[in-house]
Amino acid sequence: MIQTCTQQDGAWGNLVQTGVRICLAGILTSAVAASALAGDAERQQAKRIHDRLTGVAPTEAVLDAMEQSIIDNSGSGVAAAELAMDPAQNPLALNFYNVTLKNFASPWTNEDQSVFVPLNDYSATVIGMIRDDKRFDQVLSGDILYKGAPGLAGVAPYSPANNDHYQDLEDLHYDLSDPTVLQENVQSSLNGIPANATAGVITSRAAAEAFFVAGTNRAMFRFTLINHLCTDLEPLKDITRPPDRIRQDVSRSPGGDSRIFLNSCVGCHSGMDPMVQAFAYYNYDETSGRLVYTPGSVQPKYLINSDNFKYGYVTPDDHWDNYWRSGQNANLGWGPEIPAAQRVGAKTLGQELAGSEAFARCQGIKVYRTVCLSDPSETDLTSLLSASGFETNYNMKDLFANAAAACMSN
Ligand code: HEC
Repeated sequence: MIQTCTQQDGAWGNLVQTGVRICLAGILTSAVAASALAGDAERQQAKRIHDRLTGVAPTEAVLDAMEQSIIDNSGSGVAAAELAMDPAQNPLALNFYNVTLKNFASPWTNEDQSVFVPLNDYSATVIGMIRDDKRFDQVLSGDILYKGAPGLAGVAPYSPANNDHYQDLEDLHYDLSDPTVLQENVQSSLNGIPANATAGVITSRAAAEAFFVAGTNRAMFRFTLINHLCTDLEPLKDITRPPDRIRQDVSRSPGGDSRIFLNSCVGCHSGMDPMVQAFAYYNYDETSGRLVYTPGSVQPKYLINSDNFKYGYVTPDDHWDNYWRSGQNANLGWGPEIPAAQRVGAKTLGQELAGSEAFARCQGIKVYRTVCLSDPSETDLTSLLSASGFETNYNMKDLFANAAAACMSN
């Protein structure tokens, strides 16, 4: 009776008295069950959003508020997620900044991609930029660096020559969600390089120590691609690009076989070397422990092993070009072309990379992985980017909120 009961049976049915009563009871029972289930679902969703953004369970009060937010927003969890990340509304929001975001950014700051590294100027800047809703497409080009406020008890003053300041902030558990603790600064006023030579986290001390150390500065390019365009070089290999900017250190006949050069080495070096030229004036000095910038003077590492191929490219300055705007790598979705006269140095290369579709997609992928604990499908990614408006506002917090909401049911 209860199972076959329909609204018509209950409301307008012409059944015998007892049948009607049983039927009404059936409707009532299932209505109560449905609403209990709905409430339950929203509470579960709220809890999942909070757990994944902060790594901890919410307080009862915050869980209530988040659940209500999902109900009030017709099942959308975006506002609930924003609430979870807001220290003014959630006493546990600090975990999003101190733990989740620190773990999010730390692997980008070292070659091993380890999450187990101390806080540094790179990770602190990512945390601060996200906290303060800075446009994240500035992360590879801005004259910006976050550090602790002056005079925090027990914290060594900021130094461009060591990581003590950031290590102390972490060891003493200073709260990075607190704007009186972690503060935005003009990078060039701290590390002593000219404003136009700053390039966001690329010119952070941590990145310099990891990627400008020794070598040929190609590592900075490779790891920026891995961390911010979500691709290593292998998939980008394109042997159809002109080899005219490949440096002298790359042999044109490795092992005596020029076919290897033409079929392999060219694939990466023809596109990579003209972009790495942007870093021609940078180095990391292991003795002083700091980023070095020598405007007008190409670093010796650009000119080493010149006998490998005498007729190779001799780097004269820091003018870069992007040969991957044509050919298969046009599908990275480059933004408007930067005029040739401005294609000098790390700042404009950072703009070139961050202006690509691949950069925006990569932030979406990384955020989705962090909060949804799996890779997004193409459909997940497309709807995440459009729902959050990331490619217009470059707001990472919105990206986190939309990702957390997208997977709140599973
Ligand atoms: C998949 C992309 C890729 C291919 C293919 C490739 N390279 Fe490289 N090459 C790199 C990257 C990336 C670096 C920078 C490595 C680093 O410093 O971490 C590099 C660095 C170098 C260096 C400088 C090494 C140093 O002292 O730091 C030389 C020389 C070189 N490559 C030669 C070659 C030759 C010769 C070939 C072909 C046999 C080749 N490469 C193929 C990506 C590639």
